[in-house]
Amino acid sequence: MRDRPYTLLSCSVSIDGYIGSAESRLLLSNDADFDRVDAVRASCDAILIGAATVRSDNPRLLVHSQARRDERAARGLAPSPMKVTVTGRAELDARADFFTTGEAEKLVYCASPRIREARARLGQVATVVDGGDNVEMRRLSTDLAARGVDRLMVEGGGTVHTQFLTADLVDELQLVVAPVFVGDSHAPRFVRDGFFPWNPARRATLAAVRQIGDVVLLRYALSARFEDE
Ligand SMILES: NC(=O)c1ccc[n+]([C@@H]2O[C@H](COP(=O)([O-])OP(=O)(O)OC[C@H]3O[C@@H](n4cnc5c(N)ncnc54)[C@H](OP(=O)(O)O)[C@@H]3O)[C@@H](O)[C@H]2O)c1
Repeated sequence: MRDRPYTLLSCSVSIDGYIGSAESRLLLSNDADFDRVDAVRASCDAILIGAATVRSDNPRLLVHSQARRDERAARGLAPSPMKVTVTGRAELDARADFFTTGEAEKLVYCASPRIREARARLGQVATVVDGGDNVEMRRLSTDLAARGVDRLMVEGGGTVHTQFLTADLVDELQLVVAPVFVGDSHAPRFVRDGFFPWNPARRATLAAVRQIGDVVLLRYALSARFEDE
């Protein structure tokens, strides 16, 4: 078992680098790519998203394909991976689909100042973990490994991407570019400001490019642990 999970960050962006619109959820995938993402989900032990994405998108984060669910069950796993979120304010609704769907465990890493509120609100539907004064992604990753997570999929949003990338915790980036523009600086971007380990002096390694209908998948190897397909 590794000391932190193999971490795969999966994201769809518009041509101009946005991951959503300012007002509503924006679907940037197509059916074939959605099925590809489903296969990636099925290959992971846990999926992590930020609390803002839980609130805005209300995602279920389940493996959709019955064949993949059966294949996981045959390996003695829950049909879908564990779900993980992170929050500072603990303003999450226990009735959100994140919590009410799927058999696997749900984990909420909450910053210490609001841990009591988080346990009161979510203790019935999730395991609430005290993440420290400010939840730090390296510590979270180590804790997930200790809970048996060997392969982690990070599925957004931008705040979470930024922290995993700037902390150099991502082994593989799967970036899908959809053929649309958003053109609104109030909309969320793939990442926020930060110091990223990859820059003009240290370029990331492009491992593969694949056209999937009208979108393109770019796979980047961001660490020496990168696992080629
Ligand atoms: N295109 C895609 O592939 C994709 C995927 C996912 C999401 N999205 C879009 O992304 C947007 C949301 O992105 P976002 O950047 O605004 O939010 P986000 O990354 O989903 O969540 C941010 C929230 O997570 C919590 N959080 C993050 N880091 C934390 C830390 N270190 N300690 C404690 N809490 C922490 C905070 O929650 P509290 O506010 O509860 O304290 C923070 O407000 C939505 O529009 C969604 O549709 C797109």
